[in-house]
Amino acid sequence: MNIELTDLTRRYGEAHALRSVSYRVPEGVRVLVLIGPSGGGKSTLLRMLGGLDVPDAGEIRFDATLLSRGDDPLRSHRRQNGFLFQAFNLFPHLTALENVTLPLTEVHDKNPVEAREIAMACLERFRLGAHHQKRPAEMSGGQQQRVALARALAHQPRLLILDEPTSALDPEMTAEVLEVIEGLCRDGQEIILSTHEMGFARAVADEIVFLADGEIVETGSPEKIFDAPDSEVVRQFLGRVMRY
Ligand SMILES: Nc1ncnc2c1ncn2[C@@H]1O[C@H](COP(=O)(O)OP(=O)(O)O)[C@@H](O)[C@H]1O
Ligand SMILES: [Mg+2]
Repeated sequence: MNIELTDLTRRYGEAHALRSVSYRVPEGVRVLVLIGPSGGGKSTLLRMLGGLDVPDAGEIRFDATLLSRGDDPLRSHRRQNGFLFQAFNLFPHLTALENVTLPLTEVHDKNPVEAREIAMACLERFRLGAHHQKRPAEMSGGQQQRVALARALAHQPRLLILDEPTSALDPEMTAEVLEVIEGLCRDGQEIILSTHEMGFARAVADEIVFLADGEIVETGSPEKIFDAPDSEVVRQFLGRVMRY
């Protein structure tokens, strides 16, 4: 992924969610993982990268092209990406199949027959074929999150953006969803994700970005960040979250 951030800034009232963040994703990185303490700015950065929010100042470039703030360019940018957030944001009144089909017909201009075929194939890819007629309330959290993943991937997004995709799940369901995401990483899908699962971050990341207090504290390979971080802030955070 060819992404460059320049002086990216986002404020909420007096609070700075991002403080003049500049960063260029190193060449060859397919899976970029954001880690760091809560409130550090991970979700804010993911929303900007996905075109769901605009910075107060600064620039984002994809393939050296400036991501414009206009409604049309942002909409077109959003269409190219896939999103998955922490809370299951499926439509409660629609079945799994309908949840995956709807954006294909409404946003991606597929005809209903084609959309249904694509959606069914995506559900089967995540071992959900047998559940396609169920509504979210009739599925486990892990199944719901896999449906949401199927939906995020059905239009073959250039970039998949995952914001703490397992933080609302119990350990077994977390494992089930992480396995699916790991498979996507192996298949070469470009992904930017935030997570508190440090073992997972280490296993899948090509590059880690540590964000705290709206700033990038340190970046580097998983080996560097987890085994020999330069920053005392990173060392202390990892010491705390990986103690038990
Ligand atoms: N919609 C919002 N309204 C007000 N403050 C926000 C909003 N979103 C984020 N913030 C603030 O911005 C900072 C960064 O938040 P966030 O990007 O959610 O961090 P993280 O995802 O790393 O936990 C926090 O201080 C948070 O309270
Ligand atoms: Mg967050």
